[in-house]
Amino acid sequence: MGQDCKRMDQICQAIKKQTDFRPELGLILGSGLGDFAEQIQAETVLPYSTLEGFPQSTAPGHKGRFIFAHISGVPCVLMQGRVHYYEGYPMSDVVLPVRVMAELGVGHLLLTNAAGGVNPAYKVGDFMLITDQIASLVPSPLIGPNDEQLGPRFPDMTEAYDFDMRQCVLKAAARCGLSLQNGIYLQTTGPQFETPAEIRLYRCMGADAVGMSTACEVIAARHRGVKVAGISCITNMAAGLSDQPLSSDDVNETARLVGGDFSRLLRAIVAELSELIKGRNI
Ligand code: HPA
Repeated sequence: MGQDCKRMDQICQAIKKQTDFRPELGLILGSGLGDFAEQIQAETVLPYSTLEGFPQSTAPGHKGRFIFAHISGVPCVLMQGRVHYYEGYPMSDVVLPVRVMAELGVGHLLLTNAAGGVNPAYKVGDFMLITDQIASLVPSPLIGPNDEQLGPRFPDMTEAYDFDMRQCVLKAAARCGLSLQNGIYLQTTGPQFETPAEIRLYRCMGADAVGMSTACEVIAARHRGVKVAGISCITNMAAGLSDQPLSSDDVNETARLVGGDFSRLLRAIVAELSELIKGRNI
Protein backbone atom coordinates (compact mmCIF):
# COMPACT_ATOMS: atom_id res chain seq x y z
CA MET A 1 0.00 0.00 0.00
CA GLY A 2 1.37 3.45 -0.94
CA GLN A 3 1.90 6.31 1.52
CA ASP A 4 -1.18 8.22 0.35
CA CYS A 5 -3.36 5.15 0.77
CA LYS A 6 -1.99 4.51 4.24
CA ARG A 7 -2.71 8.06 5.36
CA MET A 8 -6.19 7.91 3.82
CA ASP A 9 -6.87 4.67 5.69
CA GLN A 10 -5.63 6.11 9.00
CA ILE A 11 -7.83 9.20 8.66
CA CYS A 12 -10.84 7.04 7.74
CA GLN A 13 -10.23 4.88 10.80
CA ALA A 14 -10.04 8.01 12.98
CA ILE A 15 -13.34 9.25 11.54
CA LYS A 16 -15.04 5.87 11.90
CA LYS A 17 -14.00 5.79 15.56
CA GLN A 18 -15.91 9.03 16.12
CA THR A 19 -19.03 8.36 14.05
CA ASP A 20 -20.81 5.45 12.42
CA PHE A 21 -22.35 7.82 9.86
CA ARG A 22 -21.79 6.45 6.33
CA PRO A 23 -22.11 9.26 3.77
CA GLU A 24 -23.09 8.63 0.14
CA LEU A 25 -22.98 12.21 -1.15
CA GLY A 26 -20.08 14.60 -0.58
CA LEU A 27 -20.38 18.38 -0.83
CA ILE A 28 -17.38 20.70 -0.85
CA LEU A 29 -18.32 24.26 0.06
CA GLY A 30 -16.04 26.84 -1.53
CA SER A 31 -14.70 30.20 -0.33
CA GLY A 32 -17.41 32.20 1.41
CA LEU A 33 -20.02 29.57 0.47
CA GLY A 34 -20.01 27.71 3.78
CA ASP A 35 -23.27 29.23 5.06
CA PHE A 36 -25.28 26.32 3.74
CA ALA A 37 -23.65 24.18 6.42
CA GLU A 38 -24.99 26.46 9.16
CA GLN A 39 -28.58 25.83 8.07
CA ILE A 40 -28.62 22.07 8.16
CA GLN A 41 -29.19 19.74 11.09
CA ALA A 42 -25.66 18.48 11.71
CA GLU A 43 -25.45 15.00 13.19
CA THR A 44 -21.69 15.00 13.70
CA VAL A 45 -19.14 17.80 13.27
CA LEU A 46 -15.45 16.94 12.97
CA PRO A 47 -12.98 19.85 12.74
CA TYR A 48 -10.06 18.90 10.48
CA SER A 49 -7.77 19.85 13.40
CA THR A 50 -8.98 16.77 15.32
CA LEU A 51 -7.78 14.44 12.54
CA GLU A 52 -4.08 13.69 12.71
CA GLY A 53 -2.37 13.96 9.34
CA PHE A 54 -5.30 15.82 7.76
CA PRO A 55 -4.32 19.00 5.84
CA GLN A 56 -5.56 22.15 7.59
CA SER A 57 -7.09 24.98 5.55
CA THR A 58 -5.63 28.43 6.09
CA ALA A 59 -7.54 30.29 3.36
CA PRO A 60 -9.85 33.19 4.28
CA GLY A 61 -13.53 32.21 4.39
CA HIS A 62 -12.75 28.55 5.16
CA LYS A 63 -13.86 27.03 8.48
CA GLY A 64 -12.15 23.67 8.19
CA ARG A 65 -14.51 20.92 9.29
CA PHE A 66 -16.51 17.92 8.15
CA ILE A 67 -20.23 17.98 8.82
CA PHE A 68 -22.27 14.82 8.63
CA ALA A 69 -26.00 15.27 8.06
CA HIS A 70 -29.00 13.81 6.27
CA ILE A 71 -30.30 16.23 3.65
CA SER A 72 -33.48 15.20 1.80
CA GLY A 73 -32.92 11.76 3.25
CA VAL A 74 -29.45 11.49 1.69
CA PRO A 75 -26.56 10.77 4.06
CA CYS A 76 -24.14 13.61 3.26
CA VAL A 77 -20.70 14.69 4.31
CA LEU A 78 -19.99 18.39 3.84
CA MET A 79 -16.57 19.92 3.77
CA GLN A 80 -16.80 23.44 5.13
CA GLY A 81 -13.50 24.63 3.74
CA ARG A 82 -10.85 22.90 1.65
CA VAL A 83 -7.10 23.13 1.23
CA HIS A 84 -5.52 24.72 -1.82
CA TYR A 85 -2.30 24.01 -3.66
CA TYR A 86 -1.18 27.61 -3.06
CA GLU A 87 -1.14 26.98 0.69
CA GLY A 88 1.98 24.93 0.07
CA TYR A 89 0.54 21.44 0.34
CA PRO A 90 1.54 18.87 -2.25
CA MET A 91 -1.27 17.90 -4.61
CA SER A 92 -1.56 14.52 -2.90
CA ASP A 93 -2.55 16.40 0.31
CA VAL A 94 -4.89 18.75 -1.52
CA VAL A 95 -6.92 15.78 -2.80
CA LEU A 96 -6.62 13.65 0.33
CA PRO A 97 -10.01 14.83 1.67
CA VAL A 98 -11.69 13.71 -1.57
CA ARG A 99 -10.05 10.31 -1.25
CA VAL A 100 -11.13 10.07 2.38
CA MET A 101 -14.73 10.88 1.43
CA ALA A 102 -14.65 8.22 -1.30
CA GLU A 103 -13.26 5.69 1.17
CA LEU A 104 -16.07 6.54 3.61
CA GLY A 105 -18.58 5.54 0.91
CA VAL A 106 -19.19 8.71 -1.11
CA GLY A 107 -20.10 7.78 -4.69
CA HIS A 108 -21.32 11.22 -5.80
CA LEU A 109 -19.56 14.49 -5.11
CA LEU A 110 -20.78 18.05 -5.59
CA LEU A 111 -17.98 20.61 -5.64
CA THR A 112 -18.49 24.33 -5.32
CA ASN A 113 -16.11 27.24 -5.61
CA ALA A 114 -15.78 30.97 -5.95
CA ALA A 115 -14.45 31.91 -9.39
CA GLY A 116 -13.63 34.86 -11.57
CA GLY A 117 -15.75 35.31 -14.70
CA VAL A 118 -13.64 34.98 -17.86
CA ASN A 119 -16.59 34.85 -20.25
CA PRO A 120 -17.47 38.53 -20.83
CA ALA A 121 -21.20 37.65 -20.96
CA TYR A 122 -21.10 36.62 -17.30
CA LYS A 123 -22.09 38.91 -14.43
CA VAL A 124 -20.94 39.07 -10.83
CA GLY A 125 -23.27 36.85 -8.76
CA ASP A 126 -23.98 34.37 -11.60
CA PHE A 127 -23.84 30.65 -10.86
CA MET A 128 -22.12 28.46 -13.43
CA LEU A 129 -22.69 24.76 -13.88
CA ILE A 130 -19.26 23.37 -14.73
CA THR A 131 -19.47 21.37 -17.96
CA ASP A 132 -15.75 20.59 -18.30
CA GLN A 133 -12.41 21.74 -16.94
CA ILE A 134 -8.88 22.76 -17.84
CA ALA A 135 -6.36 21.47 -15.30
CA SER A 136 -3.28 21.61 -17.51
CA LEU A 137 -1.78 24.57 -15.60
CA VAL A 138 -1.55 22.72 -12.28
CA PRO A 139 0.31 19.49 -11.49
CA SER A 140 -1.84 16.38 -11.62
CA PRO A 141 -2.58 14.80 -8.22
CA LEU A 142 -1.98 11.44 -9.91
CA ILE A 143 1.72 12.05 -10.63
CA GLY A 144 3.90 9.41 -9.00
CA PRO A 145 3.50 5.67 -8.56
CA ASN A 146 -0.12 4.68 -9.18
CA ASP A 147 -2.01 3.08 -6.36
CA GLU A 148 -4.18 0.47 -8.10
CA GLN A 149 -6.32 0.40 -4.96
CA LEU A 150 -7.38 3.97 -5.76
CA GLY A 151 -7.84 3.72 -9.51
CA PRO A 152 -6.25 3.11 -12.92
CA ARG A 153 -2.93 4.58 -14.07
CA PHE A 154 -4.57 6.45 -16.97
CA PRO A 155 -8.12 7.44 -15.98
CA ASP A 156 -10.54 8.62 -18.68
CA MET A 157 -11.62 12.27 -18.35
CA THR A 158 -13.97 12.43 -21.36
CA GLU A 159 -17.04 13.10 -19.23
CA ALA A 160 -15.42 14.32 -16.05
CA TYR A 161 -18.63 16.03 -14.94
CA ASP A 162 -21.37 13.42 -14.84
CA PHE A 163 -24.22 13.90 -17.33
CA ASP A 164 -26.98 12.67 -14.99
CA MET A 165 -25.76 14.81 -12.11
CA ARG A 166 -25.69 17.84 -14.40
CA GLN A 167 -29.32 17.17 -15.38
CA CYS A 168 -30.20 17.15 -11.68
CA VAL A 169 -28.48 20.51 -11.20
CA LEU A 170 -30.35 22.00 -14.17
CA LYS A 171 -33.70 20.72 -12.86
CA ALA A 172 -32.95 22.04 -9.38
CA ALA A 173 -32.04 25.50 -10.73
CA ALA A 174 -35.25 25.62 -12.77
CA ARG A 175 -37.24 24.64 -9.71
CA CYS A 176 -35.59 27.46 -7.74
CA GLY A 177 -36.23 29.95 -10.55
CA LEU A 178 -32.48 30.55 -10.85
CA SER A 179 -30.75 30.80 -14.20
CA LEU A 180 -27.42 29.06 -14.57
CA GLN A 181 -24.49 29.70 -16.87
CA ASN A 182 -22.88 26.57 -18.35
CA GLY A 183 -19.16 26.76 -18.77
CA ILE A 184 -15.61 25.54 -18.51
CA TYR A 185 -13.62 26.00 -15.31
CA LEU A 186 -9.88 26.58 -15.46
CA GLN A 187 -7.71 26.03 -12.39
CA THR A 188 -4.59 28.08 -11.73
CA THR A 189 -2.19 27.57 -8.84
CA GLY A 190 -2.75 31.07 -7.45
CA PRO A 191 -2.38 32.62 -4.98
CA GLN A 192 -1.93 35.76 -7.03
CA PHE A 193 -4.90 36.77 -9.12
CA GLU A 194 -4.29 36.65 -12.85
CA THR A 195 -3.03 39.42 -15.09
CA PRO A 196 -5.34 40.70 -17.83
CA ALA A 197 -2.98 39.08 -20.38
CA GLU A 198 -3.35 35.70 -18.67
CA ILE A 199 -7.13 36.06 -18.67
CA ARG A 200 -7.13 36.81 -22.42
CA LEU A 201 -5.02 33.66 -22.90
CA TYR A 202 -7.40 31.55 -20.79
CA ARG A 203 -10.36 32.87 -22.77
CA CYS A 204 -8.61 31.75 -25.99
CA MET A 205 -8.09 28.36 -24.35
CA GLY A 206 -11.84 28.04 -23.85
CA ALA A 207 -12.23 28.98 -20.19
CA ASP A 208 -15.40 30.64 -18.92
CA ALA A 209 -14.34 30.90 -15.28
CA VAL A 210 -11.06 30.79 -13.39
CA GLY A 211 -10.26 29.71 -9.85
CA MET A 212 -7.69 28.09 -7.60
CA SER A 213 -9.35 24.80 -6.70
CA THR A 214 -11.71 22.03 -7.82
CA ALA A 215 -10.15 20.65 -11.03
CA CYS A 216 -7.47 18.68 -9.15
CA GLU A 217 -10.13 17.32 -6.76
CA VAL A 218 -12.22 16.25 -9.73
CA ILE A 219 -9.24 14.34 -11.15
CA ALA A 220 -8.80 12.46 -7.85
CA ALA A 221 -12.54 11.76 -7.65
CA ARG A 222 -12.72 10.46 -11.22
CA HIS A 223 -9.61 8.34 -10.63
CA ARG A 224 -11.54 6.71 -7.80
CA GLY A 225 -14.72 6.34 -9.92
CA VAL A 226 -16.66 8.93 -7.92
CA LYS A 227 -19.22 10.84 -10.02
CA VAL A 228 -18.97 14.60 -9.83
CA ALA A 229 -20.82 17.82 -10.51
CA GLY A 230 -19.51 21.31 -9.92
CA ILE A 231 -20.88 24.82 -9.51
CA SER A 232 -18.93 28.05 -9.57
CA CYS A 233 -20.16 31.22 -8.01
CA ILE A 234 -18.89 34.08 -10.15
CA THR A 235 -17.75 36.38 -7.35
CA ASN A 236 -15.96 38.87 -9.61
CA MET A 237 -15.14 39.46 -13.23
CA ALA A 238 -11.60 38.26 -13.91
CA ALA A 239 -8.68 40.70 -14.26
CA GLY A 240 -9.04 43.12 -17.15
CA LEU A 241 -12.80 42.53 -17.49
CA SER A 242 -13.69 45.17 -14.94
CA ASP A 243 -11.98 48.32 -13.77
CA GLN A 244 -11.90 47.08 -10.16
CA PRO A 245 -8.69 45.70 -8.64
CA LEU A 246 -9.28 42.17 -7.29
CA SER A 247 -9.31 41.26 -3.61
CA SER A 248 -10.26 38.20 -1.59
CA ASP A 249 -12.48 40.42 0.57
CA ASP A 250 -14.59 41.24 -2.48
CA VAL A 251 -14.71 37.55 -3.42
CA ASN A 252 -16.00 36.64 0.04
CA GLU A 253 -18.39 39.59 0.11
CA THR A 254 -20.07 38.56 -3.17
CA ALA A 255 -20.22 34.93 -2.01
CA ARG A 256 -21.92 36.15 1.17
CA LEU A 257 -24.41 38.30 -0.77
CA VAL A 258 -25.53 35.40 -2.99
CA GLY A 259 -25.31 32.90 -0.10
CA GLY A 260 -29.08 32.69 0.33
CA ASP A 261 -29.72 31.77 -3.31
CA PHE A 262 -26.76 29.45 -3.26
CA SER A 263 -28.04 27.55 -0.22
CA ARG A 264 -31.49 27.27 -1.80
CA LEU A 265 -29.91 25.89 -4.96
CA LEU A 266 -27.77 23.38 -3.08
CA ARG A 267 -30.74 22.11 -1.11
CA ALA A 268 -32.74 21.66 -4.33
CA ILE A 269 -29.81 19.89 -6.00
CA VAL A 270 -29.48 17.41 -3.15
CA ALA A 271 -33.23 16.72 -3.37
CA GLU A 272 -32.85 16.02 -7.11
CA LEU A 273 -29.74 13.90 -6.56
CA SER A 274 -31.50 11.79 -3.95
CA GLU A 275 -33.33 9.79 -6.66
CA LEU A 276 -30.11 9.23 -8.60
CA ILE A 277 -28.25 8.12 -5.48
CA LYS A 278 -31.06 5.81 -4.34
CA GLY A 279 -30.98 4.30 -7.83
CA ARG A 280 -27.35 3.40 -7.26
CA ASN A 281 -28.29 1.38 -4.19
CA ILE A 282 -31.08 -0.67 -5.77
N1 HPA B 1 -9.21 34.37 -10.11
C1 HPA B 1 -8.84 33.23 -9.48
N2 HPA B 1 -9.52 32.70 -8.49
C2 HPA B 1 -10.64 33.33 -8.08
C3 HPA B 1 -11.08 34.50 -8.68
C4 HPA B 1 -10.34 35.05 -9.75
O1 HPA B 1 -10.66 36.10 -10.34
N3 HPA B 1 -12.23 34.87 -8.04
C5 HPA B 1 -12.46 33.92 -7.10
N4 HPA B 1 -11.50 32.99 -7.11
